[in-house]
Order: sequence, then structure tokens, then C-alpha cells
Amino acid sequence: MSGFYRADAARLAALVQPDRVHRDVYIDEEVFDLEMERLWARSWLYVGHASQVPAAGDYLTTTLAGQPVFLMRQPGGELGVFFNRCAHKGAQLLLDERGNAGKLLRCPYHAWNYKLDGSLLSLPLKNDYEGSGVWESPAGKGLAKPGGVREYRGLVFARLSPDGPAFEDYFAGVLEILDLIADRSPSGELEVVGPPLRSEMSCNWKMYLENVNDSVHPISTHESAAHAAKTVGDGLSGAEQEMAMEQLLPFGAGYSFYTKMGARVTAHGHSIHGTKFSLHSGYAAIPGYQDMLREAHGEARAHEVLSFSPQNTVLYPSLALKASPALLRVLQPLAAGRTRLEVWALAPRGAPEALRRQAVNYTRLVFSPTSIVAHDDIRLFESVQRSLHAGGNEWISLHRGYRGEAEPALPHEVEDGNDELLMRNQFRAWRDALAQPAPEVV
Ligand code: FES
Ligand SMILES: [Fe+2]
Repeated sequence: MSGFYRADAARLAALVQPDRVHRDVYIDEEVFDLEMERLWARSWLYVGHASQVPAAGDYLTTTLAGQPVFLMRQPGGELGVFFNRCAHKGAQLLLDERGNAGKLLRCPYHAWNYKLDGSLLSLPLKNDYEGSGVWESPAGKGLAKPGGVREYRGLVFARLSPDGPAFEDYFAGVLEILDLIADRSPSGELEVVGPPLRSEMSCNWKMYLENVNDSVHPISTHESAAHAAKTVGDGLSGAEQEMAMEQLLPFGAGYSFYTKMGARVTAHGHSIHGTKFSLHSGYAAIPGYQDMLREAHGEARAHEVLSFSPQNTVLYPSLALKASPALLRVLQPLAAGRTRLEVWALAPRGAPEALRRQAVNYTRLVFSPTSIVAHDDIRLFESVQRSLHAGGNEWISLHRGYRGEAEPALPHEVEDGNDELLMRNQFRAWRDALAQPAPEVV
């Protein structure tokens, strides 16, 4: 039924009610296309980390809203993001995940050459194009670029569309979280550690981001993980065992723990979950680390940085991050019922080695598809995705904590960490973005 939602703004808006959402937000392919065009194209999306491309010509490839792009370090040191599409007939210029392009980019198909800034440098049989009009056409203009690129504390974001909120406005209220994570390093710099853990899930991307804000699920979903933690621990010894226990045992926390945890929601769907404390607050102090940060950032800032460990921060719609252990979860929607997830560990440069181990260990223990935690969630996301096709009830409840009130002015402090207001706030941003016509992309 093509055009069912595209042609009817009221019908599309009615998918999101104050206390519930319609199943089509998760299962309808036309709605998926609309959210890529209207929400993802206009949002600042996570591309990669500056530490992954330190030298001129270094690149990494990825997708933004399904569109292939690459991040490349320029000869002058700045960062560029380009669509990974040859201007001639569209071949992908870079096929590897990462590498160094040298001094120029050569298309493997017909050998058009580009400078690292994307401009067309040379091509075979140039004289044959005389009078053809190719230089005035998009083919003659070199590589196309997304509408905007911004690096913030090493994290690189791009907006596909030239139109949309400015970076600082878009992330108002959550950029300070990136500052706090970066300031966990004495030099203020983070670096990515190793390759990511990847999972492909047969579920909608929004299900994952809602779950990041769902503190009512661990006690039941991860019940077996808390039990299995003991067995995992028995198979380890020394510092490794201590770290595994420290990271896994809190999964047994009860409802009241999360109720008191607190949260904050901001415009554009972002959230900070665990503003007062979180599952990560009880980690043992690392010897010498506090003094190191005090010396680098001063007493007050060191205290601020070390006393802050929210459970999750969502930079809607593409990124969720943890401060300590430092890690990123990046979402790549593939279809209404298919999502790729990448989990990247981060290490604060110049900080004790234990922090690097903490982040790597956590990603393996909790987010590896073979861990005792991640598959608990993925199995349930996939069951929800299948069961939404069942008859009898077309709605998904977001009622917890809702008392019929109007949407709060943003940013807004959420008293109860279990309040589904965090999810309602994501859908508020979703609904507002989909109410606008698609922006021009490039
Ligand atoms: S498609 Fe790239 S040179 Fe032809
Ligand atoms: Fe979970």
C-alpha cells in the first residue's frame, strides 16, 4: 500500500500517541523509508572516531541511514566525510573497512582519480568528453559530501542533509557528557580500542534505543545472567575475576535501585539515564588515577568527572554511550525489521591501563553475541518484532509514569529512572521529525 503514510500526514502523526505507539512504527517499510528521509537525514549521526584515522589518507567506511560513506583524514589534518560513490557510474571507491588511500583515490571500475578532498583529479580518455557537458553535470563535480560534518572531543558526526538543526542546538544538554567522558583522560583524548563487536538483529532500530532506556527489563530479562555471573567468575582468577564480578553482579539490581537512579531528557530525543548513580557507580577506585586527573584538570573537575557514571546516554538516533566503562553503541538501520549494531570500546589516553581493560572486558562480557547478557535482549527484540504482526492489539504501551500531563518543556529532569518518559521523549522527537517534509539531501 505505497503512499499510505507518505500521502497522509495526519495518519502518520497518529502513530505516536502520548501514552502508546502503533506497531507500524516498527514493522512498516514505508514508515521506515520516511524515517530515514525525514529523521535520519536531518539528524547528526555518529560516523567514527578521530583516533581511527590519525594520518593523512587514513579512512574508514560505514553507512549513515543506509548510505555508504567514508571518513578520511585530509592532508591538512582536518576530517572529511564523503559519500562512498564514484561520480562516474557509482562504484564504491573504498571497499575495505579501514585503510590508507595514499595520495589519491582511484575508482577501481574505470580509473577516475580523485584528490583526498574529493575533487576530480584526472580520468582516462579525457579528450573524449569534450563538448559532452560532463563538467557541468554532477559527474564532473567530484565526490558528493553530506550536508555537514563536526568533530567533538574526537567523535565525528555528520548530517546527510544541508538543512537541519545546528550541531550545538541538536545536542544541547548532552555535549557536556562527551566532555566528561573525554576528560577521563588526563590529556582530554580518547582512542578507540580494536575492532567493534557486530551483531545483526532481526528487529527495528528503535527497539534497541528504547531498551537502552529501559531499566525495568534487566531484573527479568537478565535474571539468568546474574546467576551465570558466578559460574563465569569461577572460571577466572585474580584481577580478571574481580573485574568480571564487578561488571556482571550489578545486573541483579532490583526495581527500587533504578527508581532512585534518576534521568534527564532533552530535545531531539536524547537522554541521560542514571543522573544520580548507576550500575557502574560501585566500581573500585583505580590507584593513582584520581591524583592523575587532579593534576591534569584541577580538583573540582577531577571530582566532577570521577563522580559521574550514568548508565547510558542516548544521542538519538544513532548512538548510545557509556562513560565508565567507556564504550559506544552505534546503530545502523537496514530495514524495518533489521538492524546492525556495532559496539566500540574506548580508552582514555594517558590514563591507567586498567581503564582500557575495563572497557574491553565490558564489551566482551556484556555485548558480545556469545556473552551471557547480549543475546538475552536480542532474543526478546526479535520475538517482539515477530509478534507485533499478531492480531488483537496494534499498540505498544508507554504508560509507565504517565499521568495525562502535557509533554514537559525540555530539558527535563526525570525523578524516577523507571519512567517510560525517556521512551516517550524519543517518540516525541521521532513524530516531530516525521511531520516535516524530507529535506533536500546534497
Ligand atoms: S564508476 Fe568509477 S570510474 Fe567508472
Ligand atoms: Fe538488556
